[in-house]
Amino acid sequence: MLYNKKIILGITGGIAAYKCAHLVRLLVKQGAEVKVILTPAAKEFITPQTLSVLSKNEVIVDFFDANFNWNNHVHLAEWADVFVIAPLTANTLAKMASGLCDNVLMATYLSARSKCIVAPAMDLDMYQHPTVKQNIDILKINGNLIIPAETGELASGLSGEGRMAEPENIVTFLIDFFKQGLPLNGKTALVNAGPTYEAIDPVRFIGNRSSGKMGIAIAEGLAAKGAEVTLVLGPSNEKIKDPSIKVIHVESADQMYEAMLSNYDKKDVVVCSAAVADYKPAKVSNKKIKKKDGNLNLELIKTKDVLSELGKQKKKQCLVGFALETDNVLEYAAEKLKNKNLDLIIANSAAEKGAGFGVDTNKITIIDKHNKISNFELKSKQEVASDIVNYTIDLIK
Ligand code: CTP
Repeated sequence: MLYNKKIILGITGGIAAYKCAHLVRLLVKQGAEVKVILTPAAKEFITPQTLSVLSKNEVIVDFFDANFNWNNHVHLAEWADVFVIAPLTANTLAKMASGLCDNVLMATYLSARSKCIVAPAMDLDMYQHPTVKQNIDILKINGNLIIPAETGELASGLSGEGRMAEPENIVTFLIDFFKQGLPLNGKTALVNAGPTYEAIDPVRFIGNRSSGKMGIAIAEGLAAKGAEVTLVLGPSNEKIKDPSIKVIHVESADQMYEAMLSNYDKKDVVVCSAAVADYKPAKVSNKKIKKKDGNLNLELIKTKDVLSELGKQKKKQCLVGFALETDNVLEYAAEKLKNKNLDLIIANSAAEKGAGFGVDTNKITIIDKHNKISNFELKSKQEVASDIVNYTIDLIK
């Protein structure tokens, strides 16, 4: 959910600042782009170098950088999807409550158009002080979100409420924040993509030209709308950019079948875009088959049809299939929709320029259970995925 999200992390001068190295790492691992601002006091607790290496971005500590270039806090504030301040000391809290602007972090806060989320950290008596409580209330009234301090051992040696929320909990808070209001928040999705390889012997296989691009784009499209996505992926060279997607790598049609069936239960949306082999060699040689005079005949037997089986076992899932045809596209697609008990089928033609395997574009027609036909223009696979995801959202509403 944090994939591609732009996050400013403001760090103020408290001992919990050392935990921000871990926080930055977790955010970057989730696919977020992070830019760090330090207050002068924060530099005493964690170095800009450490944070710069971990965030892969320059760290801002002053209005001017080492070459006397102005760090434009207004642009920075405009850039962010969210502004996180962690740890938030009582001092910066008071400045935020009163609008005091004596450092680049405060200037950025006052310029920010995005939501500001703060994680206070201070000693237990400070945290309970009436002025601190009043300042937290002012922050809330001003629309900021508070990640409450946690209870435990404090730097003073005392024990109580005042510890900065653990970095893992801050990340969870941010994920929930970005998921709020998304149409697939709370929904689960299962997608398959890519080709399958059916082994002939240890070095050879029967495969197909599917790249997996279309299915990966659908998985990423569903995740961007808030769904928790599992992707079962055949052999593909494509990168999955969104780290929130759980990827199960498989090779053969049998493995695809096992992985899809064992993850099917309780899913809300299931999209089968994989080019599963229809046949596999009857016998797999455990040694490399040597060349001999004359021809070689391979006996092929049918694989299991994953989508048909999912259709048979369907309960509440919205089941979406693909039909890649070279001729009679709509007729064959409509047959598959009915025979495999689907809610939607995405028809595309391998004969159409710019559509089908390997390319970055596709041109689809969606047919629903009531035989409603919707035609779409030739688009990038990301845009096609977005059309499919939006259609599915309308259907499950
Ligand atoms: N499919 C599947 N398992 C198979 C074959 C196909 O799950 N063994 C799924 C594909 O993922 C796709 C749909 O069935 O969503 C249609 O696949 P397609 O290859 O177009 O059709 P087939 O059913 O294999 O029939 P044919 O090859 O004769 O067109």
